[in-house]
Amino acid sequence: MDKNRVYVFDTTLRDGEQVPGCQLTTVEKIIVAKELEALGVDVIEAGFPISSPGDFQSVVEISKAVSEPVICALTRANTADIDAAASALEFAKRGRIHTGIGASDMHIKYKFNSTREAILERAVSAVKYARKFVDDVEFYAEDAGRADNEYLARMIEAVIAAGATVVNIPDTNGYCLPEQYGAKIKYLVDNVKNIDKAIISVHCHNDLGLATANTIAGVVNGARQVECTINGIGERAGNTSLEEVAMILKTHHALGYTTGINSKRIYEISNLVSNMMRMPVQPNKAIVGRNAFAHSSGIHQDGVLKHRENYEILDPEDIGLSSNAIILTARSGRHALKHHLERLGYKIDKINLDEVYARFLEMADSKKEINDHDLLVLMGDGTANHYDDKAIKVTLLQVVCGDPLRPMATVKLRVNGEEKEASAAGNGPVNATINAISNIINDEITIDEFSIQAMHGGSEDVSKVNMRVHKDGKSYYGFGYSTDIVNASVHAYVDALNKIY
Ligand code: KIV
Ligand code: ZN
Repeated sequence: MDKNRVYVFDTTLRDGEQVPGCQLTTVEKIIVAKELEALGVDVIEAGFPISSPGDFQSVVEISKAVSEPVICALTRANTADIDAAASALEFAKRGRIHTGIGASDMHIKYKFNSTREAILERAVSAVKYARKFVDDVEFYAEDAGRADNEYLARMIEAVIAAGATVVNIPDTNGYCLPEQYGAKIKYLVDNVKNIDKAIISVHCHNDLGLATANTIAGVVNGARQVECTINGIGERAGNTSLEEVAMILKTHHALGYTTGINSKRIYEISNLVSNMMRMPVQPNKAIVGRNAFAHSSGIHQDGVLKHRENYEILDPEDIGLSSNAIILTARSGRHALKHHLERLGYKIDKINLDEVYARFLEMADSKKEINDHDLLVLMGDGTANHYDDKAIKVTLLQVVCGDPLRPMATVKLRVNGEEKEASAAGNGPVNATINAISNIINDEITIDEFSIQAMHGGSEDVSKVNMRVHKDGKSYYGFGYSTDIVNASVHAYVDALNKIY
């Protein structure tokens, strides 16, 4: 066995799923479990079978559906829980029972109203009982983070002697500092005589934002299994996030630890879990947050484009993202704009970058982020409104609408150099505007098709308007975009008119 191989135990479907509102159906759990298998986790904690028939069934079905990872079922330290876990694991190729009991004086006194000795006996009996069903028994010493180290070491030694193959040292309440937690693991390594007969597992909660730091401190001090969830979901502030630990061990490869995680699948599973569990990932979340690779300041963008590692310690491709997200905003420079246009296949030597950049800034002023769709619009027909050599140009648009107001629009157009103005009413602001323009043009033009489309969703989005008009039996197409739908419609109409005249 490679002494530096760190086993990844995923508890998204147990500790993660305990979060109110995150419950999954059995079918959804199977989908996540299969993705976890593809990700390369070593152990999937599939549920707590005695807790509900649904949890029981999920452990059964995941055991059938997944073959590579060990399938683990949680129990308390009693025979009924262990019986339920054993029968739920019947179809598992490799099943593990995860049993345990409180180890801190707080839990012993106020949760169990018991004594250290009695709890130690219950721990030993539970492990022995679980070993009757499976060879792989993990013992958890709940609230080990706050437990007395000397007592914890006695408990761990006793459960290993009783047959535990993995010993889990949870910081159940997310209390420890990394130094304390690391020292606790070291204490067990140094003081539990039979520690070499089991793997030490770390299970940290994030109440003080230290779950990942504590997990790494545990590994550095001798733990070889890490218990985590995707996106760090879990009770209260959550559990250690799998993607953080996996990428820390990968990035700091000089430490020498390896895992079986295929990091390129991280982004996909993060999205899957977030969507299925209706638990959005905070934008600035390490590794998988929307902004984790999004450089928006001009200086950083320029630096990344010159040499990615100037401002990136991780390669976005390593987590399955196709490229770094240099987010285009009003603060982006020409270099960033050029990078994205080239990525989209535009030849910059054929483009007047200054002119496109000016239009880009205009768009970025009315929209927080400019993405690929916006750039395509920026480079497309919709730009027609910005050229001065067109026959018709809008110089003013003023609209009044609301409830119970009658929509009214006033439009000024420069038609072949001559300023013309008209006002009109309509059944809506777009209709009023089109009527006002028609009053100026005063020609037989019919609108055959008109579509408004939000490009991505969200109220600050850019709207795209496509229009087909006809005159004298011929069709003409117009296109416009704007964060303002009336403006986009006017641009589309005027674009079509310019094609006619
Ligand atoms: O946080 C914890 O202590 C747990 C145990 C049940 C392993 O989740
Ligand atoms: Zn937990």
